[in-house]
Amino acid sequence: MKNKRIIKRSQKSIAHSHKTKHRIFHRIPVPLPLPTKENPTDLKEEKAEIVDAGSEVTPTITGSSPEDEPVASPYLQQNHEEVAKRYGLPGPVIKKLHLDAKSEDYTEKETKERISLSDSRERAIQAKQQQESSGETPKMLTGKEMVEQMVNYIKDGTILEEYRVNANQVNVKVSIASTSEGKFYFLKIPELSIPTKALLDTVRQKLVAAIEVNFEITDVNAIDKLTRNLKERAEIILKQQFHLPEENINLLSGILINEMIGLGNIELLVADPNLEEIVVTSATESVRVYHKKYGWLITNVLLESEKQIENYSAIIARRVGRQITTLTPMLDAHLITGDRVNSILYPICTKGNTITIRKFAREPWTAIDFINNKTCSLDVFALIWTAMQYELNILFSGGTASGKTTILNVSSLFLPPYHRVISIEDTRELQLPEHLYWTPLVTRMPNPEGKGAVTMLDLLVNSLRMRPDRIILGEMRRQEEAEVLFEAMHTGHSVYATVHADSAAETISRLVNPPINVPSNLLKAVHLCVTMFRDRRRGMRRTYQVAEFIPDESEKNGVKPNILYRYEPTTDSIIKHGTSIRVFEELSRHTGLSITEINKELENKKQILMGLAKRNIRDMNGVATAVKKYYLEQGVLNSSTKLKQRKN
Ligand SMILES: Nc1ncnc2c1ncn2[C@@H]1O[C@H](COP(=O)(O)OP(=O)(O)OP(=O)(O)O)[C@@H](O)[C@H]1O
Ligand SMILES: [Mg+2]
Repeated sequence: MKNKRIIKRSQKSIAHSHKTKHRIFHRIPVPLPLPTKENPTDLKEEKAEIVDAGSEVTPTITGSSPEDEPVASPYLQQNHEEVAKRYGLPGPVIKKLHLDAKSEDYTEKETKERISLSDSRERAIQAKQQQESSGETPKMLTGKEMVEQMVNYIKDGTILEEYRVNANQVNVKVSIASTSEGKFYFLKIPELSIPTKALLDTVRQKLVAAIEVNFEITDVNAIDKLTRNLKERAEIILKQQFHLPEENINLLSGILINEMIGLGNIELLVADPNLEEIVVTSATESVRVYHKKYGWLITNVLLESEKQIENYSAIIARRVGRQITTLTPMLDAHLITGDRVNSILYPICTKGNTITIRKFAREPWTAIDFINNKTCSLDVFALIWTAMQYELNILFSGGTASGKTTILNVSSLFLPPYHRVISIEDTRELQLPEHLYWTPLVTRMPNPEGKGAVTMLDLLVNSLRMRPDRIILGEMRRQEEAEVLFEAMHTGHSVYATVHADSAAETISRLVNPPINVPSNLLKAVHLCVTMFRDRRRGMRRTYQVAEFIPDESEKNGVKPNILYRYEPTTDSIIKHGTSIRVFEELSRHTGLSITEINKELENKKQILMGLAKRNIRDMNGVATAVKKYYLEQGVLNSSTKLKQRKN
């Protein structure tokens, strides 16, 4: 009732004078940061407090025209009310519905389950708190308390590095500190006072009423446009109605955008190019990150609630046309930035809802980077390039996060532009240069009714009908996929894939054993195996082995590895290990080049790579242009030299 009166009052004052505007400005002490109250109350109640304090006009509900009136859209209101009525709930089920998945995405049953699950979670937390307060179990620190402790540790620690990150003009300082309790990643997140938060909420409501925030948009350009639109509008509102200084406008509109169409403070972590992984484990623990230089670090970024994590997961899912619900609680997707995301909801993840973001290198790595940072060597790249040129089949293996996908991407830059490349992945990770004749495909999970799934196998089978010259498979995991992939190799397609294995010998063993289970007589279709490894202690990645698979009937598996290059830890370099028995000979047999000529080609490629390294041309386009030039200079002669005769 009270609220209704207030709205009416504010409607009367729609044609408010300049004076009123100034009053609003005075009432909202915006200069940032203002001291935050301990345990701030819910924003909605806070707004009510401001109103109850006897003001004539509250900024939270003032509009300059009836269209601007910031009532929630009828769709949102209706859904709140409907769901509340249906389940006999006291208030809105989902408070920030505009940031949440639409409730119509959930069936009645799912909504009930969602509610009962979150109830059971709340009960579990309460029971735990009771246990703690009765002294039965030692008290666990809350996330907030942990962050407070972290600040104290940092005060006594040493700052290792400081730099700034910027997400939508929210520009903040990062401090990495070494303390007695380990290393921490501290983001100086702007603290907003409660009135400032209220002001932001007003602007947010105006924006939601004015611009449709559609999470189904999957086109990056459309999202860019939406971001620009929202930002411009937010800036106008902040400037014209609240007369804020320029720097505050930038900051506040940036915060709004990050919250409205992004992942809030997580956006700041996503914007840090030094991070490889961002992990949200639950709302009770602060976010952890994997830093390129310092490894795993605990941050001071805390998410508000489990609900918020679930909302973020839902937003990410909808952007890629998927869903994450209690019935489909796992999600593999990617952000608009291309970063890979995996999300699992409670109770499958027993601690709480979890999100793992694997960040892409913003600028894709290239062979020159990998030569410079010693991941790989000139010799090995010259060999991979030649193998790629003449259509050998290559597997890239390694442990978790050892850099398999990255070396596959780096090597794919050597593909000739006149061949059709089809890539198949669960989530888009590969980034290849424009000039390649490339069709990227990604799989799709089924919807909650179990419909609409597109599997790797579907795509593999289909890709063979697309007349590919080269097939890239994100990761070989299951038997069916492996069978089709080996079939593709045997029918004259050139195949590149990643496999989870720690060495060349283990790659063979992984291939012939469950779950991949490739018949051993097929393995000889693989020519080269490049194995990566990650030194966890020093946080560096190196090429561990480059091996050719040589057929050997006496071997149980039908092939054995012949190591051509290997990593030498004492000198931290990749050295020649054995002499090729198969690859050079096959190259020579199928291309008509003599071994001397092949060696000359290798030398030529080494010179090109060395030239690029010397001139510090290390970006993807620079390297790709040099590779393209090489192929153009080779002329038609080489492009028509096929290593294998296509059977079909
Ligand atoms: N040689 C390298 N030097 C530095 N960083 C690297 C290197 N190779 C990969 N990275 C980074 O390491 C992370 C993991 O790489 P990548 O995704 O290629 O690993 P992976 O082995 O494919 O992982 P998964 O097992 O999850 O498939 C990425 O953030 C990537 O940018
Ligand atoms: Mg990978």
